[in-house]
Amino acid sequence: MAVGIFDSGLGGLTVLDAVQKRLPDLPIVYYADSAHAPYGVRKADDIYELTIRATQDLFDRDCDLVILACNTASAAALRRMQESWLPAGKRVLGVFVPLIEALTERQWGDNSPPREVAVQHVALFATPATVSSRAFQRELAFRAIGVDVEAQSCGGLVDAIEDGDMILAEALVRSHVDALKRKMPHPQAAILGCTHYPLLEEIFQDALGSDVEVYSQADLVAASLADYLRRHPGIAGDGSGTRFLTTGDPRRVSGRAVPFMKRDIQFEQA
Ligand code: DGL
Repeated sequence: MAVGIFDSGLGGLTVLDAVQKRLPDLPIVYYADSAHAPYGVRKADDIYELTIRATQDLFDRDCDLVILACNTASAAALRRMQESWLPAGKRVLGVFVPLIEALTERQWGDNSPPREVAVQHVALFATPATVSSRAFQRELAFRAIGVDVEAQSCGGLVDAIEDGDMILAEALVRSHVDALKRKMPHPQAAILGCTHYPLLEEIFQDALGSDVEVYSQADLVAASLADYLRRHPGIAGDGSGTRFLTTGDPRRVSGRAVPFMKRDIQFEQA
């Protein structure tokens, strides 16, 4: 048994890396649905179908807990999966809530009514599907009042990162930040709402300016997973090591993974 970590492609490796640093002995199966990436340009129903297919595959490989390390899947599919699909004894968690709890200075499980928080002008950078779902704004509204969110849909960025074209990726970040600043000239905080984007965190920070606090998910999700596993002992299982699966071409995907992990990893065919 192991914990499943799922993404449409390589972005979830940013979460995996943070999880491995915090929980080095945790058995993990990482699953990249590379054959169908990017998800961010797909319709919500399509993302839902692909996400349940991949999650079922991880359940069949004996994972009782799957982390959707993909904002697009978390935004378009998680709630529907939890409400109408999840098999008994299995759990799926997303990546939005730990981030929003950090932004709104809440501890896990604090379900008190929404309240005013320090930050009032927030920029959200995410895929087109995440932006159009408005899932981030919905989850935020459960916890905070008076926060103005301006969402910038970062078309093309996941493709450029998956293709390893970091020159194009940097140019896209700068143009998406410019577009955001035309709508919200002075954000106080910026959310990197896609697990691919931490690879470009320095570029986002540089383009936004040092007075903007940039929130990226990997460490927050890892901390929240460690807390969850403390509260649910046994769910991680008794396997060992990490396996990497892809629905794409394992050789190509393994080659593209190096910038994310800073070391060689070998993907197997899912
Ligand atoms: N890493 C995914 C996310 O967090 C990328 C989505 C995509 O495949 O477009 O949204």
